[in-house]
Amino acid sequence: MRRAVCPGSFDPVTNGHVDVISRAAALYDELVVAVLVNPGKAGLFSVEERMELLRDAVADLPNVTVDSFQGLLVDYCRTHEIPVIVKGLRAVSDFEYELQMAQMNRELASIETLFVPTAPQVGHLSSSLVKQIATFGGDVSRLVPKAVFDRLAERTGRAEK
Ligand code: PNS
Repeated sequence: MRRAVCPGSFDPVTNGHVDVISRAAALYDELVVAVLVNPGKAGLFSVEERMELLRDAVADLPNVTVDSFQGLLVDYCRTHEIPVIVKGLRAVSDFEYELQMAQMNRELASIETLFVPTAPQVGHLSSSLVKQIATFGGDVSRLVPKAVFDRLAERTGRAEK
């Protein structure tokens, strides 16, 4: 059984994340999308909300499950016997930090990292930009799954009547 984990903050999940998750799901028998619980950073959505929005976004991918984790990602991998981390790369600027983490995770626990280059159509997407645009009334409908769009509209007080 080939298993991998796709970790992140997912605050909230974007179409860029969905691109990487769906392509990784095609490469592994089981893919776990793991949301980082970061007690030092509140975020716009709670971890439970992020997981709910992720579950909705991956509902058509039967081999994908959603979970959360606290602490080191390699400890989560060891506990769940997951040997591979999947990360999306949007641009060269992502690579430097991602390479450092990949090398460190391999040193810590012999966990390999697979990089998936995002589709060019979603290469400019990030959760923080989406939140900023939604907060100031910009249109994010093409950038996030429908359920995320609706939740952002509620949260920013711009829900359609
Ligand atoms: O979506 P993000 O915020 O870019 O995801 C970053 C994440 C959660 C993958 C990264 O911060 C992480 O792995 N955090 C867990 C703590 C950890 O293992 N740190 C050591 C990394 S070498």
